Amino acid sequence: MLSWDELENACKSCTKCALYETRTNVVFGVGNRGAEVLFVGEGPGEQEDLKAEPFVGRAGKLLDDMLKIIGLDRTKNIYIANIVKCRPPKNRDPLNAEQDACIDWLRAQFRLLRPKIVVCLGRIAAGRLIGEDFKITRDHGKWYDKDGIKFMALYHPAALLRDPGRRPETFVDLKELERMIRELAPGTYLMS
Ligand code: URA
Ligand code: SF4
Repeated sequence: MLSWDELENACKSCTKCALYETRTNVVFGVGNRGAEVLFVGEGPGEQEDLKAEPFVGRAGKLLDDMLKIIGLDRTKNIYIANIVKCRPPKNRDPLNAEQDACIDWLRAQFRLLRPKIVVCLGRIAAGRLIGEDFKITRDHGKWYDKDGIKFMALYHPAALLRDPGRRPETFVDLKELERMIRELAPGTYLMS
């Protein structure tokens, strides 16, 4: 099995799908490589492509605020990655073929991290990791068990920027996530 650094270096020169032609940087992931809680978004946007870090634009700022509410911090006690590691042009949804090409990188990140809890950010990540018939408006905040790992989805922070009316539901989901972290991954709150 590759080490984290070996995996990251290999990923950074990936040309497995056409997104490599238009990217500035591969956005591998950020956070604590020993975290028990993994967040997964859909793919890099413009700022992420420029800075080689997930969730650093406006939606990323909101994500950091959401994390803070329940004592999480991308530099300390979680890991954040995306379904596709290179920016889709004009921020379109990543094509199924691109997701298929890229998913092995995320699988390798799963094998290294062995998370206890996975939080999908938005419908693309949830559809891919929880199931094709996942409906974000109906199924956000619910727990799904897969191979002993708990999965849930939150509204994507970009969706919350467009539709602030969904924020109260997201607050409820975040508190439920905190409850589950305290139950299954309490070490999360001891990492610094
Ligand atoms: N949206 C995502 O899904 N991922 C990012 O990294 C940034 C924005
Ligand atoms: Fe490789 Fe994924 Fe980038 Fe496509 S999106 S080139 S599969 S790292």
